[in-house]
Amino acid sequence: MPRNAAAAAARLSCAPMMDWTDRHCRYLHRLLSRQTLLYTEMVTAPALVRGGAVHLLEHSPEEYPVALQLGGSDPAELAQAARMGAQAGYAEINLNCGCPSDRVQSGRFGAILMTEPALVAACCVAMREAQPVEVTVKCRIGVDDQNPEEVLPEFLAHIVAAGVQRVQIHARKAWLDGLSPKENRDIPPLDYDLVQRMKMLFPNLHISINGGITSLDQAVSLLDQGLDGVMVGRAAYQQPADILCAADRRIFGASGPDTTPEGAVHAMLPYIEAHLASGGRLNQITRHMLGLFAGKPGARAWRRHLSEGASRPGAGPEMVERALAEVTDLTESPLIL
Ligand SMILES: Cc1cc2nc3c(=O)[nH]c(=O)nc-3n(C[C@H](O)[C@H](O)[C@H](O)COP(=O)(O)O)c2cc1C
Repeated sequence: MPRNAAAAAARLSCAPMMDWTDRHCRYLHRLLSRQTLLYTEMVTAPALVRGGAVHLLEHSPEEYPVALQLGGSDPAELAQAARMGAQAGYAEINLNCGCPSDRVQSGRFGAILMTEPALVAACCVAMREAQPVEVTVKCRIGVDDQNPEEVLPEFLAHIVAAGVQRVQIHARKAWLDGLSPKENRDIPPLDYDLVQRMKMLFPNLHISINGGITSLDQAVSLLDQGLDGVMVGRAAYQQPADILCAADRRIFGASGPDTTPEGAVHAMLPYIEAHLASGGRLNQITRHMLGLFAGKPGARAWRRHLSEGASRPGAGPEMVERALAEVTDLTESPLIL
């Protein structure tokens, strides 16, 4: 894969999401968009380096370009984890400075690192020097009582000085005291203007904006306003067809027809078969497919068929095919809904 594949793909990316953006999810998303940059779930450096959990790096080349997100705050350990990620074939190594969960705070990584820009810079230098793949940072605009207008430019200046050329900014604070991780994705207000101002202050830094983006129209409009990239999290998972099917054409200027959820389901069948043949469970894949028809006729029936059918003994790709046939019937004759 070309060294700069991730940078080119970063005009649109699917955010790293624990328990959601695993390899099966990424395989599905890749069928919907050839070009959108995909991220792994966060993998912690201690798990890789001290825990020997190398299975966490498993993925297939069909997912490319895909970025590995690391959690950690020890430069030497992160350097080693980055080296392992580069050897595994990832196109980008991303440092998580935005995740607010308790577990992550106690290990001094994630959003708490917004308070330690010098340490983040040291981590980035160590990761860059250890291996050849681009190192990027995903951050918030600040935490707790920090003033984002002051701390965000300072944080960015530190990582730029450490050689980072690309950042993803979740455009809200994390309130580490008192809010759950889920609340921290909704309650602190979004500040897109601040992110826009960072682009003016750091014109050579590739800035992707993240947080609350729910449509491709919105993504296009943010790119038109001068941002370099848009990162979509929950919407890309919950309504993947809306975000990804037209992305290659609308975001990357590709020609050719848009992909369809029906086409993606067909293309998933051999993948499902191979997964089952290797001892995997159907639900490990189909759980990521539940939102494929979100907002379309038959969406509810699709979800029901898939979630009920996937746990039946012996269920396989033919169950998914049957569910698709029902949805297609509903799509073609909406009057019977
Ligand atoms: C289930 C879930 C898990 C997440 N896990 C991570 C993670 O591992 N690393 C990370 O940087 N952000 C994580 N996030 C945050 C997202 O990457 C993203 O920043 C956030 O959801 C805001 O974007 P959105 O409004 O488009 O969803 C997670 C979000 C969700 C919903």
